[in-house]
Amino acid sequence: MAVEVAVVGNVNIDFVIRAKNLPQPGQNVTADGMQLAPGGKGANQAVAAARLGAIVYLISRLGKDPFGALLLQHLKKANVDTSCVAVDQSKPTGCAFVTVLPDGENAIISALGANMALTPADVEQAFAELEHLDAIVVQMGIPLACVDRVIQIGTDRDIPVLFDPTPMREGLPRLWRYATTITPNASEAEALTGIKVTNIASAFEAAENLHGRGIKRVVVKLGAKGCVLFDEEGARRVRAYQVQAVDTTGAGDTFAAALAVRLAEGASFDDAALFATAAAAIACTKPGAEAAMPTRQQVESFMARRGKRGMVSSRLS
Ligand code: RIB
Repeated sequence: MAVEVAVVGNVNIDFVIRAKNLPQPGQNVTADGMQLAPGGKGANQAVAAARLGAIVYLISRLGKDPFGALLLQHLKKANVDTSCVAVDQSKPTGCAFVTVLPDGENAIISALGANMALTPADVEQAFAELEHLDAIVVQMGIPLACVDRVIQIGTDRDIPVLFDPTPMREGLPRLWRYATTITPNASEAEALTGIKVTNIASAFEAAENLHGRGIKRVVVKLGAKGCVLFDEEGARRVRAYQVQAVDTTGAGDTFAAALAVRLAEGASFDDAALFATAAAAIACTKPGAEAAMPTRQQVESFMARRGKRGMVSSRLS
């Protein structure tokens, strides 16, 4: 039976440009063209979880404008339940300016707009309507008070909360250490722990530090180097599947969604992390945040083709 997941987070319209390099201050660089694409970390995670077979409810806020209408339509088409997506009467739909570089890496500036008008009361009202949930996923493209409310509700109702601490900005939700699972990348892990994460050894140190603060499952993501896991059984490393990366936008969102879905289905931490690693690798192989997000069947056949042996190990090098 499909698991039920609530994703609380931002919805954006992405303005995507592919460029050879980023402009320096005072410099003007040109690109071949611009594409509009559905995005926002919350929406991306919701779409990724739905493609992987979960029943998904998105809790979010967008603007009463053409972008908002377009994104709502897109989410519905992607099988995401939007009954808890509020339409703000005055703030514009969030947007992000995404520059994709030749190696697939990206640089993003977001103007969060209506996303920042989501309130803890909206969050409470939405959860009151969602009776059965197997997992909650939340990130930081919404007010931190809303993230706190989500973690509190998850704790009170005994629903596992996966907290993806991105985008990093000033301050942290007060209750972040009460999340069940956390999935920072290297710079986010450094912001949370003060440990500079530059390699597997320092990622391990940061993961141990986060686990020591009370978080049950920690993943420190290292892009093409895979990730480090830490839970009550200690540390493991998951190697990344090597792919030709075209656009890494949305790969972290795919990872978080896939991890949450497989954990909710009862998979072990190692199996869930390996599945998430495969899903994120596939998500890098096509342009756009959501265009490349895989279905369940695509992830399973990718893993069957590429194999699992040696992907998870206790060797931290
Ligand atoms: O994680 C990728 C997303 O970050 C983009 O879709 C963009 O909207 C920003 O929120």
